[in-house]
Amino acid sequence: MSKVSVIGAGNVGATVADVLAQNEVCNEVVLLDIKENFADGKALDMRETAPIRLSDTFVKGVTNDYASTAHSDVVVITSGLPRKPGQSRDDLIGINAKIVKSVAEEVVKHSPDAIILIVANPLDVMTYAAFLATNKSRNKVFGMAGVLDTARYRAFISCDLNISVKDIQALLMGGHGDTMVPLPRYTTVAGIPLTQLMTNEKINSIVKRTQEGGGEIVKLLGTSAWYAPGQAAAQMVEAIIKDQKRVLPVCARLEGEYGLSDVFLGVPAVLGKNGIEKIFEIDLNEQERTFLDKSNKAVKEVMDVLDSMKLF
Ligand code: LAC
Repeated sequence: MSKVSVIGAGNVGATVADVLAQNEVCNEVVLLDIKENFADGKALDMRETAPIRLSDTFVKGVTNDYASTAHSDVVVITSGLPRKPGQSRDDLIGINAKIVKSVAEEVVKHSPDAIILIVANPLDVMTYAAFLATNKSRNKVFGMAGVLDTARYRAFISCDLNISVKDIQALLMGGHGDTMVPLPRYTTVAGIPLTQLMTNEKINSIVKRTQEGGGEIVKLLGTSAWYAPGQAAAQMVEAIIKDQKRVLPVCARLEGEYGLSDVFLGVPAVLGKNGIEKIFEIDLNEQERTFLDKSNKAVKEVMDVLDSMKLF
């Protein structure tokens, strides 16, 4: 019997729940929202989808009832405000840190052993907030950003080369923001290095579009993306629930890896039933290292802002 709770039934949370049900990732999904009847309604709609999609995953919606999330294997926290046009992810820190703190505290009360996946912005620093609020080891509390950013990067490469997304393998590191670190040297098309298939100029423009990928959607929609973020979080949940040992970019607390400590950054990791089971330390050239250091500095600055708020 496997159970996943998704906190926040907004666009991202509802998409996570829906994908988990669609793919029958677990036996039960509990969708919780603070807004009266909101999660209940979305969950009911998903349950009514079950006979069509032939899914046995039971989706239950609740209004702020954390007792219903008890004994979850994984809890995905999507609560918080999304970006509006003109806002950076960092602009959300004040309000979202308070929300993530109170949610994470409630979650651990009822599911002390759950693995917690953060999907709220500013992502890296909200993962830090959840880490502080839950007192869990870093393998059990981490964030989703790299799977989304890598998906955007792969989608753009696929379109440009007119090649199936299925054959594009890629890696991205660093923070979820303009300082994310795409790694064209570690990007391949069916094993062929991307650098043999595209000019540097083209790669750089795809990297830039990826770095600004979240903002591109905000400009079009007036709010943040949800299909790709929801799918990305669900893929990480599946890796954990099914103990798949997938190698995915994960926003993790670094404890000496890459010579960095006490910072939350995207790194390639193995995800299985114990959460983060391994972090890979790959070779970086001088330029990639400079990008990672920049990302580290940018995330640390926002972590300092959180510290100065003295919420913990
Ligand atoms: C994005 C937001 C969700 O990248 O951070 O779309």
